[in-house]
Amino acid sequence: MPLSSKQLLEESRARRTWRKFLSDAVDMDVLRDCILTAGTAPNGANLQPWHYTIVTDPEMKQRIRTAAEAVEREFYAKKISDKWREDLDVLKVNAEKPFLTEAPCLIAVFEENFRFMEDGSRAPNYYVPTSVGISLGLLINALRNAGYATLTYTPAPATFLRELLGRPQNETPVMILVVGKPDPSYELPPITKKSFEEIADII
Ligand SMILES: Cc1cc2nc3c(=O)[nH]c(=O)nc-3n(C[C@H](O)[C@H](O)[C@H](O)COP(=O)(O)O)c2cc1C
Repeated sequence: MPLSSKQLLEESRARRTWRKFLSDAVDMDVLRDCILTAGTAPNGANLQPWHYTIVTDPEMKQRIRTAAEAVEREFYAKKISDKWREDLDVLKVNAEKPFLTEAPCLIAVFEENFRFMEDGSRAPNYYVPTSVGISLGLLINALRNAGYATLTYTPAPATFLRELLGRPQNETPVMILVVGKPDPSYELPPITKKSFEEIADII
């Protein structure tokens, strides 16, 4: 039976970004269902311009962590603005990314910017970031419904993922969705969400 709108709201309010995970393996059958749920998303001209690479291999997770932390050290040393640092301080994040090896599962998310046709020519995809964002939202909710916590982790740039994971040139990596059972020892940063009046109006 579907949840009432109030129940779904309460459920959604209980979702938080987790940054510490238990090492328990993710159920692959459940994960397949969640990825297929993400694949049901509305998208530009039904070209479904997304790809999800699931990584559970400890060696590959370590390689991803090493590459991501190198990018992060550069970001924190040279690219971050004072305001951005101030905003991130609230979340207590820094260049260390232990969750990339501690969590049982990483899902690298790719946008397919354009298609290669059979004759080798290129054809456009439409509304790619919007479509992938909607698909990701469905994925996060499906994983949460299955009892998994997630972290939408965005190393910048994330281009190292394409090479490490052997994805084609027409795809751009957008994030690593870190997935696992939430470690209860993680201290959630205190944040608030905007009110109805702040995010909506009725005409
Ligand atoms: C596009 C996007 C990029 C994000 N990048 C990061 C990130 O690189 N590292 C991180 O720790 N959290 C990241 N987050 C998580 C946000 O900080 C988090 O969603 C926000 O603070 C709200 O907290 P909540 O998810 O617990 O409601 C990202 C979220 C989104 C949607």
